[in-house]
Amino acid sequence: MKTKIISTNKEYGQAICEAAKRLRAGELVAFPTETVYGLGADAMSEAAVLKIFSVKGRPADNPLIVHIWEPGQVRRLACDISPMALRLMAAFWPGPFTAVLKKQSIVPDIVTGGLDSVAVRMPANPVSIDIIRESGCMIAAPSANLSGRPSPTRAIHVLEDLGGKIPLIIDGGPSAVGVESTVCDLRGEVPVILRPGGVTPDMIRKVAGGVRLHAGLAEDSGGPAPSPGMKYRHYAPRAEIVVVVGDKTDVAKTIGAMYDNNKKHGIMCTHENVSLYKGKNVIDLGDGSGEGAQNLYAALRKIDEAGLRKVFFHAVDEDGMGLAIMNRIMKAAGHNVTVAKEGKIG
Ligand code: TXA
Ligand code: MG
Repeated sequence: MKTKIISTNKEYGQAICEAAKRLRAGELVAFPTETVYGLGADAMSEAAVLKIFSVKGRPADNPLIVHIWEPGQVRRLACDISPMALRLMAAFWPGPFTAVLKKQSIVPDIVTGGLDSVAVRMPANPVSIDIIRESGCMIAAPSANLSGRPSPTRAIHVLEDLGGKIPLIIDGGPSAVGVESTVCDLRGEVPVILRPGGVTPDMIRKVAGGVRLHAGLAEDSGGPAPSPGMKYRHYAPRAEIVVVVGDKTDVAKTIGAMYDNNKKHGIMCTHENVSLYKGKNVIDLGDGSGEGAQNLYAALRKIDEAGLRKVFFHAVDEDGMGLAIMNRIMKAAGHNVTVAKEGKIG
């Protein structure tokens, strides 16, 4: 299959029109959202949704997020929606916030992996909204990568993974947020974060009065995965990644001691720490919050392209976007962590 790419920069109207037409016809279309690129299909068509699983190589028990273009549509998909859930959706939609709610029976089982809940999101990127509205369909869309690869934050990443397998990619430029949406279970009294993302725990607490992180998000919790998708290895480059945590100078000393230019090692850190690694092979993520998230997945793809064997990640603080950044890098690293203490390797 030949994969066509239409840029919204050059041909906005045509991009929206052709994407919508193909979605209505039960085809797959990759399109930009503010978080990452999504691989969309008509959520009400089992045959269309089935194609998502086969093209991505995605396990059938990993449910999909349904994307809507207008907040009120959530009632067609979900029931028993609490006032707290309504407040959160009003506060964060459109945006990188996914609500897990009790599902209505019209949602096909293939979308929810047989669960009695459904994940719903209204994206903020105007291109995604225009495509979904124009199609007239609610759109099931996972990230548009092959399962196990970093999520795509540029159209070229989608082409790398899915070129020849899908008919159309809409190129809307780089994703603004860069990591996937916050997935939050809103069925109980307190919202429970199943996957950290662009909407932070503090932002949720301010609206809901409280918030919990699912216990399964902690490393080595051994407990059940917070959402089915979290139990699969994700975002994994071929190179070994070692996350080094601790005080800034200790981390720099520890990485300095382990790093070897001759062994195709690299270092990934935020801009403020680049000067600690002079003369070494450094991947600069930009600032520690917004840019770090925006650049993370492109940086993970670069590791393999550059033929690196081992990459040390200088850990970021887990506040703001740092929580989502650390969550994703820990998965990429398979929880391979070194604690730096006064220059010793812990
Ligand atoms: O930002 C995003 O969320 C992107 C864009 C395209 O919208 N989408 C995305 O989809 O990241 P995906 O399929 O890569 O990740 C969806 C996550 C998975 O971890 C899945 O297990 C979880 O949401 N999920 C979906 N439905 C769920 C449900 N009913 N209960 C719990 N977790 C659910
Ligand atoms: Mg994904």
